[in-house]
Amino acid sequence: MNIEKIRKDFPILNEKKAPIYFDNACMTLKPVQVINKMNEYYEQYPACGGRSHHRLAEKVTEETMKARKEIANFFNAKNEREIIFTRNTTEGINLVANSIRWNKGDIILTSDKEHNSNLIPWIVAKNRGLRHEIFKFNDVEDFKKKIKGVRLVSIVHTSNVDGSSNNVHEMIKIAHENNASVLLDAAQSAPHKSVDVRKLDVDFMVASGHKMLGPSGMGVLYGKMHLLEELNQFLVGGDTVKNSHYHTFEPEDIPERFEAGLQNYAGMIGFAEAVRYLKKVGLKDIEEHELKLNAQLTDAFNNLGITILGPKDPKLRSGVVGFNVGQMNPHDVALMLNTHNIMIRSGMHCVHSWFNAHKINGSARASFYLYNTSEEVEEMIKRMREIVKLR
Ligand code: ALA
Repeated sequence: MNIEKIRKDFPILNEKKAPIYFDNACMTLKPVQVINKMNEYYEQYPACGGRSHHRLAEKVTEETMKARKEIANFFNAKNEREIIFTRNTTEGINLVANSIRWNKGDIILTSDKEHNSNLIPWIVAKNRGLRHEIFKFNDVEDFKKKIKGVRLVSIVHTSNVDGSSNNVHEMIKIAHENNASVLLDAAQSAPHKSVDVRKLDVDFMVASGHKMLGPSGMGVLYGKMHLLEELNQFLVGGDTVKNSHYHTFEPEDIPERFEAGLQNYAGMIGFAEAVRYLKKVGLKDIEEHELKLNAQLTDAFNNLGITILGPKDPKLRSGVVGFNVGQMNPHDVALMLNTHNIMIRSGMHCVHSWFNAHKINGSARASFYLYNTSEEVEEMIKRMREIVKLR
């Protein structure tokens, strides 16, 4: 992997005051290839897709069909019709939560370290008579204890708090043996390692394009076709129907059935360009690179007495280092690093429930991606040495 060459593709990394950008678990930077592809839409064919039949609209339809195919290939879906474009992971989970034909008393099982996007929809679902149970993150034995009678397991793949992962291979197998379906939140895994929906045999999978070099506000929901066919429609209106009368309507085919109204066409096209870029670099190399940076920062933090969240072994924490400097407010740590042009995230990272349960007031978090360098990590270590002295 040629990092210097990669960095040239990211306009912001070539500015005079290029940031040391370690907030990739929230949002990644965008390469010029993605920006150009989106500009191509706005400059050359800024029309609607799937409706009109003039030259510009036909081009939008053609490009968005190509984009859907590209995303389907990236996740190894059987058919591009199993790919539904959403705004983000949160919308994908809400779509499933609001569209399954639930029966009163159905049980949804999540882990105890879920992002709010995979917790709040299930808390709200209790108002509709559904039950929500919780197992301990990555504890297969606890998972086995709780799986009986569950209708849907909805689990995070890789945690945005500490980068550790659930053993999803095992859990999906166990869930299926117990007749439960599985919805996988791959927001923090898909950008960094292969998420092969067929190998995993997962029923639904959601991810966000903006965490994988794509445009902001662009996500994906994958579903096995026979399960998508069983879903109710959540958002309805323009292009979700084939025909309507004053009191009835005939649903559109899948995936359009679930994509109501005019869409973010530039976003779809840009998202596809982002995965093309990732494929070209290679996810294996990206993952290996991030693990190296993680090991470098972990080593230094251990020497500085900084507490790292999650497993001790950095190989088990993807490209994420969640940490605390004694009782120091994590926001103060982030603000001090920001004065040195180092950008991290601080707080509860939308996983308030886990922090509250563990009586931790939050954490600082550095999260890496393919364009980050060992020199940047070294700079952060230098600044953290100064911050530790202030403690
Ligand atoms: N889930 C995103 C993060 O962890 C927003 O920063």
